[in-house]
Amino acid sequence: MAALGAGLLATGLASPAGATDDDGASTTVEPFGTTPEGTSVERWTLANGEMTVRVLTYGGVIQTLEVPDADGEVGNVVLGFPDLAGYVSDDDPYFGALIGRYGNRIAGGRFTLDGTTYQLPLNDGPNTLHGGPQGFDDQVWQATPVGDDDVAALRLELVSPDGDQGFPGTLTTTVTYSLDADSRLSIHYAATTDAPTVVNLTNHTYWNLAGEGSGDVYDQTLQIHAGAYTPVDETLIPTGEIAPVAGTPFDFREPTAVGARIREDDQQLLYGQGYDHNWVLDRTDDGAREGSDSEDALEEAAVVHDPGSGRTLTISTTEPGLQFYSGNFLDGTLVGTGGHVYRQSDAVVLETQHFPDSPNHPDFPSTVLRPGEVYDSTTVFALAH
Ligand code: GLA
Repeated sequence: MAALGAGLLATGLASPAGATDDDGASTTVEPFGTTPEGTSVERWTLANGEMTVRVLTYGGVIQTLEVPDADGEVGNVVLGFPDLAGYVSDDDPYFGALIGRYGNRIAGGRFTLDGTTYQLPLNDGPNTLHGGPQGFDDQVWQATPVGDDDVAALRLELVSPDGDQGFPGTLTTTVTYSLDADSRLSIHYAATTDAPTVVNLTNHTYWNLAGEGSGDVYDQTLQIHAGAYTPVDETLIPTGEIAPVAGTPFDFREPTAVGARIREDDQQLLYGQGYDHNWVLDRTDDGAREGSDSEDALEEAAVVHDPGSGRTLTISTTEPGLQFYSGNFLDGTLVGTGGHVYRQSDAVVLETQHFPDSPNHPDFPSTVLRPGEVYDSTTVFALAH
């Protein structure tokens, strides 16, 4: 599985419009509008077996992900907007987007690397969130279909110049989405730099296994293979403590309904207005990145199940952490792909990652990337019903 994506060759390109194989995997493209700056955006459709995924070159967004339920009824299980305007808007809460250069928060937008202090623009109160105001979610990526007869796949590339959003180093990033015939969507991330920098890439898909726009996910169960999490302060920056989940509403070691404890009088839940925390995954290796974490194994991190539809999502990753965000800031002001208003906890977001604010926590697994090293990370979303 870990090899999926990275080594795929551009084969079977039937036409400039994409790679298509009527017998199985297909990767096709259509226009999806133009940004206010005048850049054309494409929407790619990856189809294989029972699953269809639509990916935008804007932000590398997973716009829709359709899979059958236990009765064979196909439904879209991710939140999103019907058109480009929604994604370009400042109100977009990172629906389905690729997040970079740094997933989650950096305290004060400041960190010191090799003796130099860098100040990033702030876009979340006193902190920098998800790579800053013009993060990777707001960039138009270059897309190339790289699938074959068995796998529908799309490679997205972005070069972020030295100093982009305050980060040092020219960062060249490649993200490959690969969909196999067994409804497994793999995301492979690779990045290189020409100067020392910090990197933490993820994807910000909002999942509702009962169907996008079908209401809250409180009855859906979540299991996270983590015995500890990183508690936060009131601005959602980790305190540095690695706290056991035992005896807290953060214990998801057994499958537990998302809503079972979300309104408990717990200081951490109050800070997040629900769940918005990083879990320290139980790994057989330590998940640390020493230049490259390509030796890290893909290990199961979390399982979401919807008893109503019978759908199950299993997430595996090479990363050491998982941000579980329970859609706390959805406030009924956004209308989604199916024409429904999104409200609090209408989805779960499960972001595989290195820990938030790692550049300011030397004891967290390192997010430093140096010239000559390759950032290498894989996450797989497997859907079943
Ligand atoms: C992440 C953060 C949340 C929130 C969402 C987007 O998951 O941790 O606090 O900012 O992104 O709304």
